[in-house]
Amino acid sequence: MDKIGNNKELRSFFYDFFGEEATENLLLFWDKIDQKTTIRVNTLKISKQELAKRLNDKGFLTEELDFYEDALKIIEKPYEIGKTLEHFLGYFYVQSTSSMLPPLVLDPRPYEAVLDIAAAPGSKTTQMAQMMKNKGFILANDISYDRIKALSSNVDRLGTVNVIITMTEGHRISFKYPDTFDKVLLDAPCSALGTMYKSDDLRKWWSYDKINKLTRVQKGLILAGFRALKPGGVMVYSTCTFVPEENEKIVDFLLKREERADIVDINIKRYEGFREGLTEWHKEVFDERLKKTLRVMPSSLFPEGFYIAKIKKT
Ligand SMILES: C[S@@+](CC[C@H](N)C(=O)[O-])C[C@H]1O[C@@H](n2cnc3c(N)ncnc32)[C@H](O)[C@@H]1O
Repeated sequence: MDKIGNNKELRSFFYDFFGEEATENLLLFWDKIDQKTTIRVNTLKISKQELAKRLNDKGFLTEELDFYEDALKIIEKPYEIGKTLEHFLGYFYVQSTSSMLPPLVLDPRPYEAVLDIAAAPGSKTTQMAQMMKNKGFILANDISYDRIKALSSNVDRLGTVNVIITMTEGHRISFKYPDTFDKVLLDAPCSALGTMYKSDDLRKWWSYDKINKLTRVQKGLILAGFRALKPGGVMVYSTCTFVPEENEKIVDFLLKREERADIVDINIKRYEGFREGLTEWHKEVFDERLKKTLRVMPSSLFPEGFYIAKIKKT
């Protein structure tokens, strides 16, 4: 049985979106992927050279990745990289390459006020903290207590001191903090189809009924994130799914609701599999500006599918 299994709705989404042959090729490609092959060096604690040396001394073979100076690929491992002393000491975070992209697009700077509205378990919060050199602050929020425990332990482990953690329904944040933040990251809860290579669970629950519930949450969160931005501030909306209803259609909804919302170009190098956002899906036409958003389709450098939109409050 392949990753889609007997889920007819899921199979029909894949065939509709990619085509039958491309779906089979993607599933075969994903079957061969080693799941934990990339890490982000925590430059708050150690340099990339020093970490690579320590890991090499233990028998790990590492390779640099040109898209991000703090990323390393693990080519050979004598045992799980997560079981090393260096992991325990917070010298690195195991993170997929695609998941490192939204903070790079948002580009938080030292001394800025940043909101991470759906933050747990903290891969992007801790990445942003290191980009900010532990200066300024990040309000890292999530709704799930269990996931906040992981967020809090990752924030501690990585020596991140500019993070304040809150547990609240993200939709409420803009009531408390209107027009407050320089930058907002909304890494939204989504149907996660881009991560199917590491999960067999998705086929058990994926349905359009579930997608409709998710899109209601995504709409509330994108409005709240946008309203919490200062005028002139920038928000990144990201998901790890392919579904246009959770991606372009959510950003299109924001553009229609908030006339001060505009889409900004994403100025990062284009790699294999990078595509512009859709302006049409199932006969529905979206705002032309959505072409400026980014779809990361699975490739050997970025095996996880992602969607990223960069939005400015004018
Ligand atoms: C894609 S995950 C975030 C991953 C995280 N940004 C990272 O990089 O480690 C989405 C998160 O949204 C949270 N979430 C779901 N509904 C929410 C809501 N209404 N308000 C705030 N967070 C919510 C989930 O608990 C989950 O942790």
